[in-house]
Amino acid sequence: MTTSDKILIAPSILSADFSILGQEVTAIDEAGADYIHIDVMDGHFVPNLTFGAPVVKSIRKCSKKVFDVHLMISPVDPLIDDFVAAGADIITAHVEAGPHLHRTLQHIKSKGVKCGVSLNPHTPIESIKHVMDDVDLILIMTVNPGFGGQSFIPLLDKIADAREMIEATGRNIDLQVDGGINPETAKQVIKAGANVLVAGTAVFKDGPEHYASHIKSLRGDS
Ligand code: DX5
Ligand code: ZN
Repeated sequence: MTTSDKILIAPSILSADFSILGQEVTAIDEAGADYIHIDVMDGHFVPNLTFGAPVVKSIRKCSKKVFDVHLMISPVDPLIDDFVAAGADIITAHVEAGPHLHRTLQHIKSKGVKCGVSLNPHTPIESIKHVMDDVDLILIMTVNPGFGGQSFIPLLDKIADAREMIEATGRNIDLQVDGGINPETAKQVIKAGANVLVAGTAVFKDGPEHYASHIKSLRGDS
């Protein structure tokens, strides 16, 4: 890998207790999370609703870790500036969210935050061939976006293809996988070339006293 050999864990706060969201963010920070993965859903691009930029702004004070904002919204462009202002470090938009992906990625980059692109399970990896120079992160969805707790779709060949495309650029681009990640599927996606693992259920399932050990086992440290 040209990216750091360290496996980074990005707990998805979709599985957190929303009634104490700030405390949950602090707890995963202290438990060793590398990125805080923030799933924004609009009830239109995906069949579920979560929260918007004001919530991101309010939890920004709970952690200094990388705020990794996964936008499952369409249209994307009108809300990018709000998430930047709220404190996002990475903003990821979906290939499928609109007809002008290149414009969306340029908009994200122009704001000085890291720029990610995400692909739904059915979307061929070739769809991002012409934007490779613009991205800092590629997010391969291994579930259909919208909900936590779904089963992993084994798109290992797609992950390997993405890794090859990243290597060909010679740049440091994160290869992130999201959906159904547990210690078993984590091993498979790491072997295929992923270096950032998103996990909701597998981190949050047993309460705060277990967050650190769950994060460790996803990293393959135990
Ligand atoms: C799904 C979200 C994921 C989700 C993962 O649309 O993008 O980040 O929270 O949840 P688990 O790890 O439970 O599959
Ligand atoms: Zn996500």
